[in-house]
Amino acid sequence: MTLGLFATAKPNSSLSSAATAATAHPPDSANPDNKGVLLAHIVSTKCDSVVVTDDSMDFPPDWRQSVSEHDRRGHQEKGRTIALHSLGVLPAYQRMGLGRTVLKSYIQRMETAGVADRIALIAHGHLVEYYESFGFVNKGESAAQFGGGGWNDMVDSAHVIPQSMILTLLRSTNLPTLALVVRAYLSDENNAVSRVRSKVRCPQTLAG
Ligand SMILES: CC(C)(COP(=O)(O)OP(=O)(O)OC[C@H]1O[C@@H](n2cnc3c(N)ncnc32)[C@H](O)[C@@H]1OP(=O)(O)O)[C@@H](O)C(=O)NCCC(=O)NCCS
Repeated sequence: MTLGLFATAKPNSSLSSAATAATAHPPDSANPDNKGVLLAHIVSTKCDSVVVTDDSMDFPPDWRQSVSEHDRRGHQEKGRTIALHSLGVLPAYQRMGLGRTVLKSYIQRMETAGVADRIALIAHGHLVEYYESFGFVNKGESAAQFGGGGWNDMVDSAHVIPQSMILTLLRSTNLPTLALVVRAYLSDENNAVSRVRSKVRCPQTLAG
């Protein structure tokens, strides 16, 4: 669930001395002297809570051998929340719009992939407004104590279409119903779908 933004560095260009260039590989075999240098990244896992937790940032020490399905630490394949743990841009390339580009692209990819119902992250106060500009909502002080705590829980469920909504749409057969579901969902992301679903008369069951 990661995304990287790379640029091709020619030998002796300023990019070829970037901190990430040491481990970079040639982007294509025809130009082995060039390097595909990592400029920005997103690292995420899935979790089964609505917000990012300390468990979601942790991982079982024996994860390479075997992981119990009851262990809540680390990636939870069946979780419906994408826990965005790290967004980073190389210091020399910050405040040029790369962070915005990579995060917008990531949100769009997750939106179309349909793998989750929301994206969650934790942010310190100085970046709350930044994430709000992407549609994340500040849910208040986080219980996560990672790195000393002091985080805010931020959740974006407006862009990612939840599984429950897709199922409701599949069961609907007329346009007014579809419009009702979408409008209710957009105005109240938490409970709208279940409220509307109870009003919708399904002529046939397609799923569930
Ligand atoms: C936070 C970060 C990902 C933003 O990416 P970026 O490419 O630098 O940011 P963009 O160019 O997309 O957007 C710039 C805007 O982001 C906000 N912003 C970026 N860094 C900020 C900071 N340290 N404090 C406050 N606002 C900040 C500002 O609104 C800024 O607009 P401005 O330059 O007009 O003031 C990047 O600065 C970074 O990697 N920082 C270090 C790691 C980090 O803190 N990651 C986030 C938590 S995991």
